Amino acid sequence: MAATAPLFWVALLLLGTAAVRASHVVYPELQSLEAEQVDETSRTGYHFQPPKHWINGPMYYKGLYHLFYQYNPKGAVWGNIVWAHSVSTDLIDWTALDPAVYPSKPFDVNGCWSGSATVLPSGVPALMYTGIDPNKHQVQNVAYPKNLSDPFLREWVKPGYNPVIAPDGGVNASAFRDPTTAWYGPDGHWRLLVGSKVDHKGLAVLYRSRDFKRWVRAHHPFHSGLTGMWECPDFFPVAVAGAGRRHHRRGVDTAELRDKAVAEEVKYVLKVSLDLTRYEYYTVGTYDHATDRYNPDAGFQDNDYGIRYDYGDFYASKSFYDPVKRRRILWGWANESDTVPDDRKKGWAGIQAIPRKLWLSPGGRQLIQWPVEEIKALRAKHVSVADKVVKGGEYFEVTGFKSVQSDVEAAFEIKDLSKAEEFNPAWLTDPQALCKKRGSADNGEVGPFGLWVLADADLTERTAVFFRVFRTNTSKHVVLMCNDPTRSSFESQVYRPTFAGFVNVDISKTKKIALRTLIDHSVVESFGAGGRTCILTRVYPKKAIGDAAHLFVFNHGEAEIKVTNLDAWELKTPKMNVPQQ
Ligand SMILES: *[C@@H]1O[C@H](CO)[C@@H](O)[C@H](O)[C@H]1NC(C)=O
Ligand SMILES: *[C@@H]1O[C@H](CO)[C@@H](O)[C@H](O)[C@H]1NC(C)=O
Ligand SMILES: *[C@@H]1O[C@H](CO)[C@@H](O)[C@H](O)[C@H]1NC(C)=O
Ligand SMILES: *[C@@H]1O[C@H](CO)[C@@H](O)[C@H](O)[C@H]1NC(C)=O
Repeated sequence: MAATAPLFWVALLLLGTAAVRASHVVYPELQSLEAEQVDETSRTGYHFQPPKHWINGPMYYKGLYHLFYQYNPKGAVWGNIVWAHSVSTDLIDWTALDPAVYPSKPFDVNGCWSGSATVLPSGVPALMYTGIDPNKHQVQNVAYPKNLSDPFLREWVKPGYNPVIAPDGGVNASAFRDPTTAWYGPDGHWRLLVGSKVDHKGLAVLYRSRDFKRWVRAHHPFHSGLTGMWECPDFFPVAVAGAGRRHHRRGVDTAELRDKAVAEEVKYVLKVSLDLTRYEYYTVGTYDHATDRYNPDAGFQDNDYGIRYDYGDFYASKSFYDPVKRRRILWGWANESDTVPDDRKKGWAGIQAIPRKLWLSPGGRQLIQWPVEEIKALRAKHVSVADKVVKGGEYFEVTGFKSVQSDVEAAFEIKDLSKAEEFNPAWLTDPQALCKKRGSADNGEVGPFGLWVLADADLTERTAVFFRVFRTNTSKHVVLMCNDPTRSSFESQVYRPTFAGFVNVDISKTKKIALRTLIDHSVVESFGAGGRTCILTRVYPKKAIGDAAHLFVFNHGEAEIKVTNLDAWELKTPKMNVPQQ
């Protein structure tokens, strides 16, 4: 264990200074480490940067957003994992605090893995997390704030009655982790889910409790699927458009489920992270409180081909309810795509995606995601383009601003959809394969058109974010959204897969499609059609860096397109994880 993963040692020095100075310093040996040179080229500016790994339960408590994340101060990938802790008043500027939960008791001596926060009806937040015990068994523990008057909730106490959930009754103790936020049913019992598996079957195991202390496993799993181990399950209610007076974009707190009327009026989302493929998928469905059964709605695929939050590099996400703006916020993690030696040289590894507001589409067919509005506060210099026609084979540069750290919103109008190429229904199961075959350099009829981001002046390096429109044999249209990083740089070791998803829009009606892309040095995070399809990619240009990073609009389809509007802003750098003084 001692010799592994040096990347996180270095990252600690950069981001986790507070941990080194901590009053409960548990890793004094870190103080003597010297930082390697930190390469600022591809370091992100406004994306939250944890040194490593999965999101734990983010939450809001008395004026502050708390982000807990997985972090390894000892440098070993799977040893001694702690809950690092940062706070923010606006989800933009972040202050790093000391780790909140770290191995200190037999029930978590080998690591404090992922989990969730639940704010109890008394207003007291509880952290439920997976501890690794002396037998390397995964057990579920609870922790409470030591001092509720401390708005930073710096210290957490683990009651002696932990673990509260042990892997009894045939549960695989090596595959039993990541408890969800608990919800309280109209029958007065708490419930939560724990990710698990039996053979190839992924499970969300349901537990119930009256007092948050003694938990009893339900006889049947809450839900399961033949997709291997389920990690980081997330289960939450979403408002339905048109039901009651509730605005459908407004979030619903799991705490509101105590109210029977609310519980009956909402839909439910179950998301799982697939350990085997490292993808996440979700279903939307109904949940019967009486029988504790969850049923995905017809049309949601409960397998590897299910609908995804993000078709790029996005894993182990968590959502939480924000009572200030009454919204649900989704947060995912994206790892690096280059090599471990490169991570060492860079001095950091892994970022969080931009927090995204999440709601159910009016038709209930999918969730919509949009960067939290707070990010607009970072917008600085602005440029715009309006009603610019781009003929087949043409492109133009968006000039007058620095795009390396920017926010770009564009809308494309397609004059004539009649030329769209025929769609083969066999492609439906694998948009990524389709996009790989029909990449951005492959000329088409309607598309590829979109943006070249992080491009150098002569376009040798570039990452394409684009659309292609196809026509089915029943004259319906299929829109494919792609991210093609194959020319983002030419370093042979960088992982550069093409990512893609279909976009659920009726383009024949509007003849228009929108794209928003957040560019942050080594992150390209895109939202198609107002957040219906999202793709996050990591790229590491060598030439298209700093002021040498350019932004272009291109059209490699025969059909002419019009950029009806394009607005682009440079984004300022927030206070990113500065240790508390
Ligand atoms: C609890 O936190 C408050 C606010 O930070 C502080 O004034 C108080 O001294 C703390 N109490 C204890 C027992 O540490
Ligand atoms: C339990 O899970 C571990 C880790 O995935 C796996 O290696 C092992 O085979 C599982 N044991 C059983 C009995 O299924
Ligand atoms: C992290 O990135 C690598 C590519 O560098 C990929 O193969 C791996 O699956 C990713 N890990 C996770 C957990 O997504
Ligand atoms: C369209 O294609 C599907 C799948 O290939 C086929 O089943 C269907 O019969 C076709 N419909 C028409 C109108 O040609």
